[in-house]
Amino acid sequence: MSAEKRDEGLIAAARAAADRSYSPYSNFPVGAALRFDDGTVVTGTNIENASYGLALCAETVAVSKAMAEGRRGGLEAVAVTGPGAHPITPCGRCRQVLNELAQLGDTDPDILCVGPGEVHRVKLSALLPAAFGPASLD
Ligand code: THU
Repeated sequence: MSAEKRDEGLIAAARAAADRSYSPYSNFPVGAALRFDDGTVVTGTNIENASYGLALCAETVAVSKAMAEGRRGGLEAVAVTGPGAHPITPCGRCRQVLNELAQLGDTDPDILCVGPGEVHRVKLSALLPAAFGPASLD
């Protein structure tokens, strides 16, 4: 499969995840899809709470699912979709959460920030330079 087709599939998976968003307070459904080096895609969506500050972001849910399934690396690409007029970039906390999984496998994943008419591709290391990660505790 071509790289373009794989990215299209990843974006479609993120969009499908956003359809399952639980975001009645913000009405801002976000979808995230993680692609691993074995081709597996793990998705997440934002899960809000009546105690507003407890909302879980789509990327964090996706990383949590993947790690709960036993993944400890191999993260190659991430697609993030939202409903707004601009491409979604992961929030600061999600950058850190993504970094943990990426550093465990020594990868620097492409982050596909998806907007209505454009896809902005950026490396995680560019979104989170000089990251604090597992190796920082050595
Ligand atoms: N949100 C995400 O899911 N990911 C991000 O990177 C940014 C924000 C969610 C949190 C909240 O449910 C909604 O978007 C509005 O902030």
